[in-house]
Amino acid sequence: MIILGIESSCDETAAAVIETTSLQDPVILRASVLSTSMGLHAQTGGIIPEQAAREQIKCILPVIDQTLQQAKITNPEKEIDAIAITYGPGLIGSLLVGVETAKTLSYLWKKPLIPVNHLYGHLYANWIATVNQPLTPNTMPIFPAIGLIVSGGHTDLVLIKDHGQLEWLGGTRDDAAGEAFDKIGRVLNLPYPAGPVIETVAKDGNAKAFAFPRPMIGSGDFDFSFSGLKTAVLREVQKNPTLTEQTINDICASAQQAIIDVLVKKTLKAAEQYNVKSIVLGGGVAANQTLVTLLKQKTNDQRPETKLFVPTKSLCTDNAAMIASAGFYNYTETSWQELTADPELYFD
Ligand code: KG4
Ligand code: ZN
Repeated sequence: MIILGIESSCDETAAAVIETTSLQDPVILRASVLSTSMGLHAQTGGIIPEQAAREQIKCILPVIDQTLQQAKITNPEKEIDAIAITYGPGLIGSLLVGVETAKTLSYLWKKPLIPVNHLYGHLYANWIATVNQPLTPNTMPIFPAIGLIVSGGHTDLVLIKDHGQLEWLGGTRDDAAGEAFDKIGRVLNLPYPAGPVIETVAKDGNAKAFAFPRPMIGSGDFDFSFSGLKTAVLREVQKNPTLTEQTINDICASAQQAIIDVLVKKTLKAAEQYNVKSIVLGGGVAANQTLVTLLKQKTNDQRPETKLFVPTKSLCTDNAAMIASAGFYNYTETSWQELTADPELYFD
């Protein structure tokens, strides 16, 4: 089966073509193209929704065109079997660009639409075979699995019993993990998005220099809260109005460690409680190697029988390959007349 995936829920506009065989096999990525308006948002220190949507209107057709060319698809009406499309959650203007484009293509090419929850998409990046993660039927994630979604807008722990059987265990009560990185970055005058910058400068900092709080680390549930961390960093900055480079590095290392400690502790607690065989990570913060290294180490120590899966960096952040993948493993067809964008979509 050949699936065209389309993703436009935030500031990225992306398309991808995947090839699938069976639910027991990983999907093969034939093409993935992405255009981002991050440069514009970096100037303002955050995303301006209307500006993001206007940029997406300009680039969605060229991005799809380029994807089809890369995948060597010359006759999409004949060669494509279905179109997987992110219908939520996200920014309404941005979602509409992708959804309306997918509906038009579905009508023109007479292809079914597969509506995909963006959050499922982040997890299903782990079912895509790549050069860095050459999956085979024997090395794919096994159920039951714990999924940790850590992105700019979400921090959620879910139990995945099988394809299409997700149980939400908990999530953030305020800021998402990526949002915490970005807000701490703003307090420190670092460029947006701050997650990757904080990770880089933290390498030259001391993670024990500041005793930042680990909110809700022992709360006994699977919820998170990261807004207090940003306030704690702000308080430190107000105490030291002239920050040296070393202090900034130390604050970044200490704040990053606080976020990671909570994520690792709760993920392993969920893995233990539900006795899972795999842990799958997804979302932009999963690109953080300090998080991945610690989670790998603790998983090996505490649950050597559980296998950790982390997508290749380019599949951690928003992309359309993960949407096509989630669409395949959770296949539900809909018609263009029925599909509507849902910015508030969450877990069932
Ligand atoms: O998944 P994503 O691309 O978009 C959303 O769906 O939100 O995630 C973007 C988020 C941003 O908050 C960004 O700062 C964070 O992921 N991020 C990172 C890293 N790379 C991206 N956070 C920590 N360390 C990183 N290396
Ligand atoms: Zn995302």
